[in-house]
Amino acid sequence: MTDGDWAQMVRLDATNFGHVVDPSALAAWRTLIPDHGALVVADGPDVVGQSLYADLQLTVPGGAVLPVAGITWVSVAPTHRRRGLLRAMFTELHDRIAAAGLPVAALTASEGGIYGRFGYGPATVRHEWAVDRRLTRFRSDAPDAGGVRIVTPSEHLDAFTAVYDRWRRITPGGLARPRALWDDLFADRDEDRAGGSPLFAFLHADGYVLYRNHGAGPRHVRVVDFKAATPEAHVALWRALCGMDLMERIEIGTHPADPLPYLLTDGRVVRTTGAADDLWLRLMDIPAALQARTYDDDLSVVLEVDDAFRGDGGRFALQIRDGRAVCAPTGAAPDVTLDLDVLGALYLGGHRATAFAAANRLRTNDSDTVRRIDRAFASAVPAELGFAF
Ligand SMILES: CC(C)(COP(=O)(O)OP(=O)(O)OC[C@H]1O[C@@H](n2cnc3c(N)ncnc32)[C@H](O)[C@@H]1OP(=O)(O)O)[C@@H](O)C(=O)NCCC(=O)NCCS
Repeated sequence: MTDGDWAQMVRLDATNFGHVVDPSALAAWRTLIPDHGALVVADGPDVVGQSLYADLQLTVPGGAVLPVAGITWVSVAPTHRRRGLLRAMFTELHDRIAAAGLPVAALTASEGGIYGRFGYGPATVRHEWAVDRRLTRFRSDAPDAGGVRIVTPSEHLDAFTAVYDRWRRITPGGLARPRALWDDLFADRDEDRAGGSPLFAFLHADGYVLYRNHGAGPRHVRVVDFKAATPEAHVALWRALCGMDLMERIEIGTHPADPLPYLLTDGRVVRTTGAADDLWLRLMDIPAALQARTYDDDLSVVLEVDDAFRGDGGRFALQIRDGRAVCAPTGAAPDVTLDLDVLGALYLGGHRATAFAAANRLRTNDSDTVRRIDRAFASAVPAELGFAF
């Protein structure tokens, strides 16, 4: 592709996703694309397919940060569907990602049925909550240390970036957020507001909330970004949100282990209105990825991993002692067989091996092995995607 293709790429993206990306938002994202990180498929003079990857930094359990390929801008023209363009683009794009030595590829998916065949598994889960703010009562033993300020986001950029950076370094699924993307977020364009107010903010020494007000008559809050690096910041920020008397409810996307319901006298006021996959991972280099994270229990197992897409699977001996793994190819008989997408789903501890075994997607003759994989792959810090891309 050439720089001259971008105008057509913006149009194809708009055709599929329904909005025209702002030029400065595009410029921010383009700073993250490495040389040869983007490709297009042309039909004569027309761009009819496109995909690219950004250089991202992903935190894994234990706090190691891995360079990952963040795939995005995946589009095929409605006039050219189901002729193998995505498969052809992904074959080339993953050759480039492998050549760049990136151990993991990542994406967020428009539909759940597309990417498993390419070795991607859903590694984090997002719950949508509607909190009936008028009925929230904090328990008497819930901390109440305060420390939250109302601030204008753009005047406190350094504070937001510092808190976010602390949060993402301790959270599996956290992503380094480059300055260009902060500037893009705080540009707070009308078209990013979904009919809501400008961005409002609560700031704490260890956390923040960015949110908008929506609606007329009964108004509600839609949280855009909630990050807390400590439990104290989490409860203090929720107290601030629940203190907005004129707001009927608070809507937020969070991870399934968010402790808010346990802070309240009636956890039912936190209603889960949806649950979906969020970050999808494909392990490009299985030993490198498995050795990068830490583990909660010892394990000694031979995994047979099938990668029907590009043959990055094989048989691997995985030895975990005192939280660290050694993983290498082996000729030994396998204890467990699974597809690469299942390994991606287990990688951050967001799903359990037991559940995949029950679905016959993780196969072994020994149920104790499955329980040991559950224990070893669990993550003390719940996995959560840093930001959508
Ligand atoms: C999703 C999209 C990229 C697929 O492109 P495509 O060129 O039609 O896909 P291909 O013909 O290469 O299909 C590749 C494989 O994926 C499958 N597939 C494609 N789209 C699928 C979908 N929406 N759901 C389930 N499977 C799908 C095909 O059946 C095919 O399977 P196979 O190779 O195992 O037989 C295209 O439909 C599109 O641009 N959609 C709108 C934008 C979008 O959702 N982009 C993805 C953003 S994450």
